Amino acid sequence: MQKNVIPHTFTITQEERSKLKNHACFLLWFTGLSGSGKSTIANAVEKALFNKKIHTYTLDGDNVRKGLNNNLSFTPEDRTENIRRIAEVANLMIDAGLVVLAAFVSPYQKDRENIKQIVGTDNYVEIFINTPIEECEKRDVKGLYAKARSGEIKNFTGINAPYEAPVNPDIEIDTTQVSVEEAVSIILNKIKNKLNPIN
Ligand code: ADX
Repeated sequence: MQKNVIPHTFTITQEERSKLKNHACFLLWFTGLSGSGKSTIANAVEKALFNKKIHTYTLDGDNVRKGLNNNLSFTPEDRTENIRRIAEVANLMIDAGLVVLAAFVSPYQKDRENIKQIVGTDNYVEIFINTPIEECEKRDVKGLYAKARSGEIKNFTGINAPYEAPVNPDIEIDTTQVSVEEAVSIILNKIKNKLNPIN
């Protein structure tokens, strides 16, 4: 079917949208266990970028798994499809001229490699929120670790499903050592030059 899909050449390019917005466009991908602090930090980074007049959008489990991906479960196959769709959406948003923040457990190395293929290596910034599982379980903000321990949830990441830690993330943050404010400043510092508009 795809062989007969021939893309139209649009007049306005990604570079032009980026120039109009006066900043570069890329993806900040937050990976880590449930309860590690991904969405909290992504939210604080987005606020800081917004205050710098950077055009942003945040994708996370709440707005994606309840809509676009509401037909997907937590089997390895469905997680792979979850991440693939999110990466494709992020790619369109980058094309639209945004700095995209995405906070997903994304436990499989191969799925994260695929994101890089979809958006391009230069557009992918991997942020590993490396909060120890003991701390995530202690927080248990959503009560899901307790449910996983009792056997109510079968394939819960970190308890009875794997989390493959990133080998070489661009940024690594342990929220038991670093405050949200410090995390924001580490991330902003790292992407400072990357935000410069393409000339
Ligand atoms: S991913 O593995 O496909 O990347 P995603 O980030 O979309 O997962 O969703 C994870 C969120 O869904 C968790 O923060 C948690 O609130 C909830 N959740 C429900 N069931 C599971 C499960 N079996 N494993 C991990 N998270 C789960």
